[in-house]
Amino acid sequence: MHISKSLIPILKNNPTEAKIKSHQLMLRVGMIRQSSAGIYSWLPLGFKVMKKIEKIVREEQDKIGAQEILMPTIQSSDIWKESGRYDDYGEEMLRIKDRQNREMLYGPTNEELITEIFRSSIKSYKSLPQLLYHIQWKFRDELRPRFGIMRCREFYMKDAYSFDLSDEDARFSYNKFYLSYLKTFKRLDLSAIPMEAETGPIGGNLSHEFIILAETGESKIFTDKRIFEVDSDGYKPEKKSLEELRKKFETYYSVTDEKYNKSEFEKNVPSEHRIITKGIEVGHIFYFGDKYSKPLNASVDLQGGKKDFVKMGSYGIGVSRLVGAIIEAKYNDKDEIMKWPLAVSPYDVALIPLISKNETSNIEKANNIYDFLKEKKIDVIIDDTEENFSSKIKKFNLIGIPYQILVGKKSEGDLLEFKEIGKETQQLSLSQIADLLIKQKSKI
Ligand SMILES: Nc1ncnc2c1ncn2[C@@H]1O[C@H](COP(=O)(O)OP(=O)(O)O)[C@@H](O)[C@H]1O
Ligand SMILES: [Mg+2]
Repeated sequence: MHISKSLIPILKNNPTEAKIKSHQLMLRVGMIRQSSAGIYSWLPLGFKVMKKIEKIVREEQDKIGAQEILMPTIQSSDIWKESGRYDDYGEEMLRIKDRQNREMLYGPTNEELITEIFRSSIKSYKSLPQLLYHIQWKFRDELRPRFGIMRCREFYMKDAYSFDLSDEDARFSYNKFYLSYLKTFKRLDLSAIPMEAETGPIGGNLSHEFIILAETGESKIFTDKRIFEVDSDGYKPEKKSLEELRKKFETYYSVTDEKYNKSEFEKNVPSEHRIITKGIEVGHIFYFGDKYSKPLNASVDLQGGKKDFVKMGSYGIGVSRLVGAIIEAKYNDKDEIMKWPLAVSPYDVALIPLISKNETSNIEKANNIYDFLKEKKIDVIIDDTEENFSSKIKKFNLIGIPYQILVGKKSEGDLLEFKEIGKETQQLSLSQIADLLIKQKSKI
């Protein structure tokens, strides 16, 4: 991509309406644009990041055997009346009437719709477990949308649902998602900790929120700091392995504020290990048994002719919120430097030539480098504008592409200035740079 031909509307200064760094940065470098309160358009830079996050989320769902589907955003109110949530959900639900005067709604979540699909498709216990997911827009008419895409009204979520015969099997499914969440967040270079949580309007009694620490987060947490040292590598989506993993995390007290109990906290956590702080909820998993299968009559035939209601769980990841959460975790707002993990960076490398009236050869040199890198399947953005060299570098420090190639006065002969954000500049040849980038990409 050539900057001169791109839609990347950079602002000179931080927008004053934004209160937290992720919101400021996303507006500043033109990743999103507000279209109305709590509703955003995703511009190329922001959209590329979100799509890369989505891909990682999808791969980790597929790895535990979940099947991808796509349910619509608009739902009929009928199934919500069957479950009893049509009235309970209240004003957060956006209700719409179609031309036949039928009551429709923009889905805030999909327990009812997926249960309806299940009950009309699956008849026998032999088809269980069923793990299903989709990645789709949701709408919740939040009273106070804030912090940009972190708490907005229309947002992009991965929501999965599990259907099992017994309580024990359902807990196994729950644990598979628990593991896949740890793996997903790790690939996003985030340290997201599972904390015991309240189930809220979804219902049920077993639930974890996955939380990353951040001062600007909206969840209050009480935890034993040793939980951050727990190593989740090497576990497999097998019953015993998953139980061990759960046990390992559960050695340490870690809860959100609705679950907080002062005396338990003080009894279980030595004072030097206690942390009371804030965090961002990036994922939330629930086990709720037959809360929906019973009212919606979702049952399967058992051996011997009987029937039983299936046991269900649901599992959400805030795909669009993660874009902001990664910024909160990685952006140094004092020095105005962002560094995306390569796995989700909008581009692999930024190519920054010094271009001025006396320096006309650099653009040609940079265009050749650009073509070479493209050939090697490296996603490169070139700043072909005549903006001053140091402001170009500043701009890319904000955009946060982790690698920069500077084509300026210092690149002599065959050597180029290559910089990984936050590290010393190196003098490397173009083929050395390409090899290094290909190697880093292979680790994603
Ligand atoms: N208003 C919102 N804006 C952006 N992301 C959201 C919003 N509400 C929920 N999410 C994301 O979707 C995930 C699943 O949501 P869920 O737990 O059902 O909602 P809530 O936490 O509001 O009860 C959350 O962990 C969060 O990452
Ligand atoms: Mg939640």
